[in-house]
Amino acid sequence: MLNRVFYNATVATCDAGIESYGLINNGAVATENGVISWCGANNKLPEKFKKLAALDCAGGLLTPSFIDCHTHIVHGGHRATEFEQRLQGASYAEISAAGGGIVSTMTATRAASVDSLVATALPRVDSLLAEGVSVIEIKSGYGLDIDTELNMLRAARKIQTLRPIIVRTSFLGAHALPTDYNGTKDSYVDDVCIVALEQARAENLVDAVDGFCESIAFTPDQIERVFIKAQALGLPVKLHAEQLTLSGGAALAARYGALSADHLEYLDESGVIAMAESGTVAVLLPGAFYTLHETQHPPVDFLRKHAVPIAIATDCNPGSSPLTSLLLTMNMACTLFKLTPEEALMGVTRHAALALGLTDRGTLAPGMTADISLWNVEHPSELCYRIGFNPLSERFQPNQPQPDQAYE
Ligand code: NIG
Ligand code: FE
Repeated sequence: MLNRVFYNATVATCDAGIESYGLINNGAVATENGVISWCGANNKLPEKFKKLAALDCAGGLLTPSFIDCHTHIVHGGHRATEFEQRLQGASYAEISAAGGGIVSTMTATRAASVDSLVATALPRVDSLLAEGVSVIEIKSGYGLDIDTELNMLRAARKIQTLRPIIVRTSFLGAHALPTDYNGTKDSYVDDVCIVALEQARAENLVDAVDGFCESIAFTPDQIERVFIKAQALGLPVKLHAEQLTLSGGAALAARYGALSADHLEYLDESGVIAMAESGTVAVLLPGAFYTLHETQHPPVDFLRKHAVPIAIATDCNPGSSPLTSLLLTMNMACTLFKLTPEEALMGVTRHAALALGLTDRGTLAPGMTADISLWNVEHPSELCYRIGFNPLSERFQPNQPQPDQAYE
């Protein structure tokens, strides 16, 4: 277990109540048995921690390790040809209506075994790991039949056994209507989606339940039926909402106490207020906005005005966001959505933890899990500022033994 003092660091605690970034200059962090015991100024380090192994951070930056709280990183195939079509003017909705989009990934995903879903996801996972990511949320939603939805979740769970990363799974059976399904969206929700959810729950494959509430996907009424089942199974909910149109998804999600509502480009102020009242996190996904050449911006000013916590995530998926860098996501959130670099950092730490219902991660504070990243930068804004540059020096995990020289 990690028992160590980190000193001579700039510490971005990302903790509430401390000024900008929760920043401590010339700071130190003490960890014992994989848990943070103390954070503060170097020169205030209590005597009892000075006997622990110590690391001189040489002025580098410490942050909580990152959390990517919205991904579809497990999937079969790719959709690079749709990238070409979009560059020639076709829209996401047009490609989807013509049998491309989510349904084309469904075909590739159904053809893949659990092992090959894992094998193709791992290089993408490794790309995130290399940037100090400690937790990834992974959704199902490309199987769209009972067996393949379960296989996607089994693959997601398996990734956690193969890499030093925590995986949180979300069941996304209500993602699209499969073209080969012989029935209506209503019957799909009742006979496939809800049945798959029950089975996934019985196999302990699900941590949360998601849906795609959109004109090209499912209505609020259909999503609500999935949410009622989630509630009965004791699972928290989240929702892809207001991505392409204002459909009322965020308000529905708020009524069910959702952990998060995600995308949100078309969200209005009343939806923001509903989210504020339910404590629902707004997960913004600049990779999808960028890839789809969207022009409608999420209502960042309303989110700020009503103090809705903002998280950001890669939305890593083969169609609308083939993005496997949280650092680039942070840069995009600042450049495209005008988030401040501080908001972007909170968005991949404290608020991303909230979006997954994780209470032991996301800040550097006493009692939190000691999953800490050391960056070779002087100031946290540098994490957002450079493009295509990874300054991670090292990630320290709670279960990592590493004796070295003592503080004194
Ligand atoms: O989060 N919006 C819906 N689902 C995914 C896109 C999935 C796809 O195009 O394959 C998203 O952007
Ligand atoms: Fe998504």
